[in-house]
Amino acid sequence: MDTAQLTQQVSVAVNGLRERIGESFEVTVVLGSGLASFVDRMDGRTTVPYAEIPGFPVSTVKGHTGAVVAGSIGGHRVLCFAGRFHYYEGYDAATVTIPVRVAQALGVRAALFTNAAGGIADRLQLGDLMVIEDHLNLLTADSPLRGLSDEVFGSKFVNMYTAYDPVVTQALKSIGERRSLPIASGVYAALSGPQFETRAEIRMLRTLGADAVGMSTIPEVIVANQAGIRVGAVSVITDLATDTVTELSHDQVLATARRADEHLAELLTGVIEESDW
Ligand code: HPA
Repeated sequence: MDTAQLTQQVSVAVNGLRERIGESFEVTVVLGSGLASFVDRMDGRTTVPYAEIPGFPVSTVKGHTGAVVAGSIGGHRVLCFAGRFHYYEGYDAATVTIPVRVAQALGVRAALFTNAAGGIADRLQLGDLMVIEDHLNLLTADSPLRGLSDEVFGSKFVNMYTAYDPVVTQALKSIGERRSLPIASGVYAALSGPQFETRAEIRMLRTLGADAVGMSTIPEVIVANQAGIRVGAVSVITDLATDTVTELSHDQVLATARRADEHLAELLTGVIEESDW
């Protein structure tokens, strides 16, 4: 996708959405596979299915409902994307990150990204909420910034040194602990998928320092950093990506995500309620 096309797609989507949900949002929440309970905790909700947003891609993956939900949590205006776009669906990285650009245009200053991920570190258990402290970008074939004009979107040489905002990250960890949620923290690695990893790939990821592995989120984090949006992110550990496990399916991932979904909703709600960013 080139700069003109992306600018056009984003502005059409922003105009379409603004008419229905207004603007001046503070926080955006992006919900990953099988994760939807957060939406039920939002007050004064307006839901706009992706299919009704001009210029917006359509989510094709089972477990993603595909709607923008606008509302508030504890008086904070929240723009929630229930369902995300993945590189493995055939979209390029710039398309996958359109929601983040739309959120920026609607005033968002902080983003909370969520995903389902396979646990690699021995300390992780099924259903854990792993606060992402850093990442390994193995989706390097396509960057969401590749080829875009710096004049339109800002410098493409984005500093990723503190890609995960230390204040937001600390808030996720401490609020999770205070509320006795199964909180962990670590490094997230993203591969392009959609196939799961081989045993050798899991050993490689472990050696490289990955604690969990998934197929999303990193392009969105890159764009949020370019846009000056503060980032927090959480992986729900839906399976254990060890080199002895032989059974793994998308349905299993969704089933575990659904069981952990209330915990995640509680964490996100708590962090937004107590936020001052
Ligand atoms: N690997 C990659 N992506 C995933 C996994 C996994 O084990 N679980 C959920 N998403």
